[in-house]
Amino acid sequence: MKKEIQTANSSLAVDKVSLSFGKILVINNVSFQVYEGEILSIIGPNGAGKTSLLNCLSGFYQPDSGRITYKGQEITKIPIHRRASLGIGRTFQGLQLFPGMTVINNIMSGRHILMKTNFLQAFLHWPWVHREEIAHREVVEEIIDFLEMEAIRHELVGNLGYGLRKRVDLARALALEPKILIMDEPMAGMNMEEKEDMARFIIDIEEFKSIPIILVEHDMEVVMDISNRIMVLDWGNVIAEGKPEEIRTNPAVIKAYLGDADEEVNHY
Ligand SMILES: Nc1ncnc2c1ncn2[C@@H]1O[C@H](COP(=O)(O)OP(=O)(O)OP(=O)(O)O)[C@@H](O)[C@H]1O
Ligand SMILES: [Mg+2]
Repeated sequence: MKKEIQTANSSLAVDKVSLSFGKILVINNVSFQVYEGEILSIIGPNGAGKTSLLNCLSGFYQPDSGRITYKGQEITKIPIHRRASLGIGRTFQGLQLFPGMTVINNIMSGRHILMKTNFLQAFLHWPWVHREEIAHREVVEEIIDFLEMEAIRHELVGNLGYGLRKRVDLARALALEPKILIMDEPMAGMNMEEKEDMARFIIDIEEFKSIPIILVEHDMEVVMDISNRIMVLDWGNVIAEGKPEEIRTNPAVIKAYLGDADEEVNHY
């Protein structure tokens, strides 16, 4: 039985956001809230606008109209790095890691926005630089432990399988110590065991780190299993929002999915 979410505790609010590329309307007047303590999944067919919407939240795209508010502060137009330092973390649909660097250094790269030291100070080896480095390392060690990555910490990311790279990407996002986590298809390309591990980590992050999670994912079994709420996008429009059991039986949702070409259906 999933816990009840307190709708008084809003973390992120999206109000009438629209986005076009040229003449193509990709997000159409979308509004929703993310509450503390929840895993909110955003689902929809390929090209529905899910990644574009996440990009508006993390600052990669700026909407043409509408407002995005995070913990009461408007963030619609502020740059990516400022959103990151406010605590908005994300993982990527296409991996954005450094394949020639070790796992631990990739995770460390997720903290650069929190680091006060610049390259010259690091070069001069001033004592507080060393203290800062130790503090950062401690956070990274805790994440390695949390995501059970001890065995691969010194591996080059380029040598890892896809499932483990996705885990490194999650670790890198957690290194920012986010207050909300946005995940774009964390299970894509994973085998069953890797998916189960990832699902467990997502639940643990919400529970033990007490941060809400926005999850875009095509694996319906996982989505139904771990989400508190689900929002469905179709051609940039929100066509349904509710608890997993409501979404599963919603006629508009069934139509949106089954309305696709037959070969697409299996994908979900
Ligand atoms: N930078 C861009 N320039 C032009 N068109 C874009 C851009 N980004 C996204 N689009 C278009 O916006 C639409 C929505 O794409 P988006 O990637 O947001 O969909 P999605 O729901 O994440 O799909 P998928 O499930 O395949 O990842 C698509 O038609 C896509 O081609
Ligand atoms: Mg996408």
